[in-house]
Amino acid sequence: MAALTAFVLNGPNLNLLGTREPDIYGNDTLGDIEAATLKKAEALGITVDFRQTNGEGALVDWVQEAGAKADGLILNPGAYTHTSIALLDALSAIAIPKIELHLSNIHGREEFRRDSVTARAATGVIMGLGGAGYPLAIEALHALMTRGTGA
Ligand code: DQA
Repeated sequence: MAALTAFVLNGPNLNLLGTREPDIYGNDTLGDIEAATLKKAEALGITVDFRQTNGEGALVDWVQEAGAKADGLILNPGAYTHTSIALLDALSAIAIPKIELHLSNIHGREEFRRDSVTARAATGVIMGLGGAGYPLAIEALHALMTRGTGA
């Protein structure tokens, strides 16, 4: 079997991790999180394309690209989680396993963060575990990609 590939996509302001509201998002930078994600992926034989953008359109393009090229997707849409029907439509259009990820527990935060528009199209959601959620999402995605089931 060819090596499994996964896209890990990060939305707006996640480039600021490390200095951005560390009491909510922790002290890890996105680079730290990428390193931990790639380490776990390598151990499981998954090739990861790890990206961040502040643009909604770029995220839509990358979700479409993941649907064409990858075996699975992990997506932290940032604030677009709560607003983006365009992202929901893109996620609904692709047939690979999709895990939505949040560093914080959005259900314990402000009212406007408690609904995820995009999670309607997710296979599963991981949240509230900080940067540690990313390697866990890789494990769960591996299970979905190889066994067609959750972790
Ligand atoms: C976030 C939660 C969102 O509400 C917020 O806008 C973010 C980060 C998280 O990872 O906890 O940018 O997606």
